[in-house]
Amino acid sequence: MSEWTKTAWRNLPRVQMPDYPDSDALAAVEAQLSHYPPLVFAGEARTLKRELAKVSKGEAFLLQGGDCAESFAEFSADNIRDTFKVMLQMAMVLTFGAKVPVIKVGRMAGQFAKPRSAPTETVGGTELPSYKGDIINGFDFTAEARIPDPARMLQAYTQSAATLNLLRAFSKGGFADVHRVHAWTLGFTNADNAERYRDMANRIQDTLDFMAAAGLTAETAHDLAQVDFYTSHEALLLEYEEALCRIDSTTGLPLAGTGHMLWIGDRTRQPDGAHVEFLKGVQNPIGLKCGPTLTSGHLKALMARLNPKNEPGRLTLIARFGAGQVGDNLPRLIKAVQEEGANVVWTCDPMHGNTIKSSSGYKTRPFDSVLREVQEFFAIHKAEGTIPGGVHFEMTGKDVTECTGGVRAVSDEDLSSRYHTACDPRLNASQALELAFLVAEELSARRQPASLAAAG
Ligand code: PEP
Ligand code: CO
Repeated sequence: MSEWTKTAWRNLPRVQMPDYPDSDALAAVEAQLSHYPPLVFAGEARTLKRELAKVSKGEAFLLQGGDCAESFAEFSADNIRDTFKVMLQMAMVLTFGAKVPVIKVGRMAGQFAKPRSAPTETVGGTELPSYKGDIINGFDFTAEARIPDPARMLQAYTQSAATLNLLRAFSKGGFADVHRVHAWTLGFTNADNAERYRDMANRIQDTLDFMAAAGLTAETAHDLAQVDFYTSHEALLLEYEEALCRIDSTTGLPLAGTGHMLWIGDRTRQPDGAHVEFLKGVQNPIGLKCGPTLTSGHLKALMARLNPKNEPGRLTLIARFGAGQVGDNLPRLIKAVQEEGANVVWTCDPMHGNTIKSSSGYKTRPFDSVLREVQEFFAIHKAEGTIPGGVHFEMTGKDVTECTGGVRAVSDEDLSSRYHTACDPRLNASQALELAFLVAEELSARRQPASLAAAG
């Protein structure tokens, strides 16, 4: 087999990628980016891979979340802080339920390029190319905005660098110190979640007081004062990914320098296509979206291509079937994994199979469907004796009204009030936290039989 190169994807069929009208402008941007520093370093990607290997054995749990699409217009320190904060809260809640470390991975600092269900959209009789994410074209419904512009890659790079800089500061600079567990309380929008979170924070505070009395403080145990926070995005725009691909000087292996973990979308996972070709050669941990149309045969081919050495932590299968469809699909894919003896992480994306159009015309996701898909995912893993390794959410720290339901019951009519997403509807802070409590209950219920067995 000939050696992998970062340009080989160019000779293969590609889908969902833009055709840039100005090839000179594209080449100039690619040349510029190819001299820029990578955003992440190989050692970090390897550490995340080791953490994900633990997830595959049930020794840790993966929390992946953030925007459907980051946008240039919504870029602000407050937005980054609030998403980071709600993820810390969710991680705390999940750690409490699962009693294992929670690996935190943001859909942040690079989640800009979007696959679309149709190449064009029509509004009031006018048909234009679809919006493909701020790294490719503009959201405004004008012919001009919808032209793919390579200069957008430079802005996406800069925004990703600034976002990562802030995330690193929040993670290591004291903000994420577990002693601040009470201070992370966002303006909770419902009393029920606030109460549950406060109760848990009080219990954590008691534990910390006890540990301090025993001599363990943030000064002596640095892990209490810091968290590891990783970034991820869909590797859709391969010109951008290729331009930031670097050789890691420690291992001599290629690294995708744009984020710690990259995933392949449900629409770009053709085993012989460009996206699989590019991602098979980089050493980062890789995600693969698994929707209802994924056959067992294709999954086997993809596992062989993306993880030929069967390295634990390398491949995360992100199940996104839709509520009511998990039972028809997950067992057959679990069987394919078992037949290959493959090491994988199984995680649940309960968002992308549950998008509907509301009666008020907005694209939305009912909270009940999201929750039901998570429950089905856990139930099937329990029945199969396999490990439900994590969850993958589209969410924001802001009080948006994009998904219906939740304890605060966002209705169809409420959607127009704060609908800000550049693409798919996200859980708001309150819905995200509510879901974390429900997942924590599933996780602690799962632990029950083992601990009872141990006690017996
Ligand atoms: C996404 O994660 O935003 C996405 C488009 O997902 P999928 O490829 O699973 O549809
Ligand atoms: Co999405």
